[in-house]
Amino acid sequence: MTFEFSDKNQEQVRKILAKYPAERKKSAVMPLLDLAQRQNNNWVSKDVIAEIAKLLEMPEIKVYEVASFYTMYNLKPVGKYLLQFCRTTPCMLRGIDQIIKDCEKKLGIEMDETTADGLFTLKEVECLGACVNAPVVQINDDFAEDLTSENFLKILEDLKAGKQFQIGSQTGRQCSAAQV
Ligand code: FES
Repeated sequence: MTFEFSDKNQEQVRKILAKYPAERKKSAVMPLLDLAQRQNNNWVSKDVIAEIAKLLEMPEIKVYEVASFYTMYNLKPVGKYLLQFCRTTPCMLRGIDQIIKDCEKKLGIEMDETTADGLFTLKEVECLGACVNAPVVQINDDFAEDLTSENFLKILEDLKAGKQFQIGSQTGRQCSAAQV
């Protein structure tokens, strides 16, 4: 199936391209990949790559090289909620491994898999830059911080029920204030 930017996103494409000199339009590859991914159910298909390569007049392999380098682009379909577990040292020391185990058990899937109902995909990533509130899981564009197995399983329940989860600290801590 071919991919085309929607009418609304065509306008965004024009705005993005206007930020770069015409002869440097290849520089727009990252924001265009992001825009396309958001339109395309959160993943970058071969057709997305082909469309961006055509727009930017660059080889498809060059677009693919960018898309495959950064973990922010998904090269295969993902669930409605993409759960990205930080497994770098501070999150590991603060218990992310147990949270992952409990999450995998609860959802019946393992890392890099998607639940049969299409709701959740699990992914392991490196430091998300919020170590001060470790352990951290990124859920689509937002962070859930200060996690325990208990509060994370509650988030899964809320998402399943169609509720918004509490973004940021799950223990009520303000920003990164010291815990008392
Ligand atoms: S180590 Fe997990 S956010 Fe930095």
